[in-house]
Amino acid sequence: MRLLSFLGLLVGGTFSLAIAVKSQVNPSSIDVFQMPELPPPPEDGRILSEKGLVVSTQRQASEVGAKILAQGGNAVDAAVAIGYALAVTEPCCGNLGGGGFMLIQPAQGKPTFINFREKAPLAAHKELYLKQPRGASRNGYLAVATPGTVKGLEAALTQYGTLERAQVIAPAITLAEKGFVLSQGDVAILRVGRERLLQPNIAEIFGTVKGQRAGDTLVQKDLAQTLKKIAQGGEKAFYQGEIAENIVKASKAEGGILSLADFTQYTIRQEKPLICTYRGYEVITAPPPGGGLPLCQMLNILEGYPLEETGFRTPQALHWFLSAMFYGYRDRNLYLGDPDFVSIPSEKLLSKSYAAQLRTKIPNYFAIRVKNTLPTKLDGQTTHYSVVDRQGNAVAVTYTLNSYFGAGVMAPKTGFLLNNEMDDFTTKLGSPNQYGLSQGSANLIEPGKRPLSSMSPTIVKHRGRLFLVTGTPGGSTIITTILQVITNIIDYRLRVDQAVNSPRLHYQGEPRTVLIEKKAISNQVRRDLEKRGYQFSERLTNWGAAETILLNSKGVLEGVNDYRRPAGAAIAEPQLQKSLTR
Ligand code: DON
Repeated sequence: MRLLSFLGLLVGGTFSLAIAVKSQVNPSSIDVFQMPELPPPPEDGRILSEKGLVVSTQRQASEVGAKILAQGGNAVDAAVAIGYALAVTEPCCGNLGGGGFMLIQPAQGKPTFINFREKAPLAAHKELYLKQPRGASRNGYLAVATPGTVKGLEAALTQYGTLERAQVIAPAITLAEKGFVLSQGDVAILRVGRERLLQPNIAEIFGTVKGQRAGDTLVQKDLAQTLKKIAQGGEKAFYQGEIAENIVKASKAEGGILSLADFTQYTIRQEKPLICTYRGYEVITAPPPGGGLPLCQMLNILEGYPLEETGFRTPQALHWFLSAMFYGYRDRNLYLGDPDFVSIPSEKLLSKSYAAQLRTKIPNYFAIRVKNTLPTKLDGQTTHYSVVDRQGNAVAVTYTLNSYFGAGVMAPKTGFLLNNEMDDFTTKLGSPNQYGLSQGSANLIEPGKRPLSSMSPTIVKHRGRLFLVTGTPGGSTIITTILQVITNIIDYRLRVDQAVNSPRLHYQGEPRTVLIEKKAISNQVRRDLEKRGYQFSERLTNWGAAETILLNSKGVLEGVNDYRRPAGAAIAEPQLQKSLTR
């Protein structure tokens, strides 16, 4: 009943939205459409490499990365090339019109974190959506924040890459200009986004794919032109030229507030990543506004419990997991926002003593009591990829348009979709966003501010040596997915593909429901936890895609494409000779 009334609200919101903004998409049909059921994971999902390795959510993009490695590029060259290639081959999520985070751990030296998260337009303010129809922060130009991807990729390449810009963008241009053949996995994603893909400018590209069947070739001429401009002119071509002008013009014509100043004044933030420890491992991850802080907080809490001895997915171990997740999200919602705008008590939140204090509040048996709210509704897709080169340089990138195909808008002649990242702000205090997150005042909209994110590209080291490169899409489930991947490996000693492919759970305190993936827990365990006060709901899809690389004790890389994203692939660096014969 509650779910029905929630969907009803969405549909109602859609109606008023259609009046307010031209060329609007219908959120209800997007939100309820699910990915088809997946085949089971393979017996052994690992790809091994003694040289470089690339894992991304789209096969052709992984191939691009592996080839760049074989051509002598380093992990950053490959990561930048994949970033551009995914913008072509995975238009739901890979992007030029969005933003994200890149974490770089050079083989020698200190890690760095490039924050190219989108910024709120300068004309935005905390009351922007209060009088707007429901859905205005998700659909149409008012939902669009200033994109950061091109500036982020450019910064990474100029500081850490070794190849010319033109060389790393060339494969993406070819994929857009000549087209690429859609796999079944690619088609499944396009179908999920079909409403957004039928919008003006977008339909001309995606609507012409004959019924969107596997084997069809998707050509993107405008996108190829845009990529050529960037290849020639760099970030200036995007932020100061025709591309920005076309976006601003379209935004103004369709009720948006983007201005040229948003583009010319856009900056990335580059800093030391957030680093915490877990049972002797060093966890290097995304500082705010990314999701690494709650991840570390959860790990700190769990470190005080004997997880291994208590057993995998036993009621007591799960009770500790769910309690750790509860506190991580509680503090995320209370304290976190863009550090350029709010002061975050990071030192306290990350301290082992604070975790110990929280552990004393966790009941031995019963679930922490929380007030009931709407059921969780999680839409959207992001993309994550991991790269390690033969020198041992490692890169983890998570970048996004937020929802599948972002805000469902594309400016004429640009060929790429724009994000709806404004919905990641606290658009209205007390109202949950599309991931069910009721965020706090630290995340209210301000001009030029970045919205809070759950994205957490993460690298784990052990005794100074690279151990794991991971990250995932999945909205608010990003943080709990990475938590499970890490603990599955460190505490439960699962093989990396099993750690990634094993069914997951997610809890964020509010809503009260613990989401479970099929077969995540047995009926007996579920009944035990229900007695403790937990309530469960099984969700079929949108469990992320933790594209992960592990460096094993023999020095061999083990890459795993999360089976939940069949379009993806882990690909080892090919022989140089082979890669040069096109
Ligand atoms: O930054 C965030 O937390 C979200 N915009 C990420 C979106 C996402 O992962 C969607 N995937 N389901």
